[in-house]
Amino acid sequence: MEKDWNFDEIIDRSGTAAMKWEPSILRLKFGPGRENLMPLWVADMDFYCPTVVKEAMAERLDHQIYGYTLQDPEYNNAVIQWYGRRHNWEIKEPWLMSTPGIVPAVNFLVQRFTCPGDGVLIQTPVYYPFAEAIRNNGRTVVDSPLIIADGQYEMDFEDLAKKAADPGVKLAILCSPHNPVGRVWTREELIRFGDICMDNNVLVFADEIHCDLVMPGFSHTSFQSISERFAQGSIAANAASKTFNLAGLSQSSLVIPDPIKRGEMSLYFQTLGMNPRGSGSLFGAIASRAAYMSAEPWLTDLIDYLHENYLYLKQRVELEIPGAKVFDLQATYLPWIDFRSLKLAPEEVVRRVEEGAGLALDHGDWFGENGRGFERINIACPRALLKKAVDGLVRAFDS
Ligand SMILES: Cc1ncc(COP(=O)(O)O)c(C=O)c1O
Repeated sequence: MEKDWNFDEIIDRSGTAAMKWEPSILRLKFGPGRENLMPLWVADMDFYCPTVVKEAMAERLDHQIYGYTLQDPEYNNAVIQWYGRRHNWEIKEPWLMSTPGIVPAVNFLVQRFTCPGDGVLIQTPVYYPFAEAIRNNGRTVVDSPLIIADGQYEMDFEDLAKKAADPGVKLAILCSPHNPVGRVWTREELIRFGDICMDNNVLVFADEIHCDLVMPGFSHTSFQSISERFAQGSIAANAASKTFNLAGLSQSSLVIPDPIKRGEMSLYFQTLGMNPRGSGSLFGAIASRAAYMSAEPWLTDLIDYLHENYLYLKQRVELEIPGAKVFDLQATYLPWIDFRSLKLAPEEVVRRVEEGAGLALDHGDWFGENGRGFERINIACPRALLKKAVDGLVRAFDS
């Protein structure tokens, strides 16, 4: 693959209805007068996707008939090869069901595998659409908050075991790697988590959307690859959308090894008017397949670039804003910054980020009460933009 990418290039996304940059959305989310904040919030990247992806879509585009299209078997093959090669996880073709997104899938799962009032376990601070899916569907959030030990987030297994033992808890949502705390859970941690859930008959939804964006020195373990028991007791979700910046193409996969759960999900898809074999999108499948088959060198370079962005952020923030701590980023491009030692009210941290630094970041409390005083920053942008953002933060917190 000829190297034709340049992550330093600043790309104008205006006029493309990019959610991250759209002034009307910034106004809605951050308030009037906030339309021009520099947006380092929504988790997509300000980089072009690999050229091979564009070329694959262009080839199909040329055909000029985009009618009802079957679920592309080549997409499933590409997924199987990718996870086998990169994650040592042997997925069988019948286990795969496409879905337009993982957030829709979390909602489908909550609706199909729990009843109103049932408890669903999450571990805050965590990606907030999980709690929204639980609440919006009339189920109960059962939170087992992560704890900070020796400067790193860990699962609280004692608390988890107590909560999972409640017969009202039917589902646990595992975020692996974890957004926003950036942890890659170790095999041992996943085994403890999985054993607790399986022992208590709690179905696990393993959201592994960030599993390809793992920083040097770390290695992701797919939950279902650990044991047959975990595979049968869980539904996993993955996608090329974060990895290759394709989130607008509405294509991801559920992996359901248990034929009974697969049958139930199939029936459920039917009740939604969706293809029971799975529903993604025509161009999403083409793009994802091309990326999985041909864009590994791009991804290798991307991870190096993201890692350097992370080191740049950490070094400057910790040096120039005394007391602020950037948690070690083991995966994702979404570092988690702790401002609590500055002894400012959490509202003041938010005010300084927005008014002082001019930034739209994901505020910590969106991820749960225990996120107050934290900010999540998206560093998947050219370094020049990141530099501008860090300059702003340093100015805003320079008291
Ligand atoms: C943990 C996690 N799951 C799911 C998603 C989004 O999934 P989708 O775009 O497929 O709905 C994100 C996006 O940031 C995420 O961080």
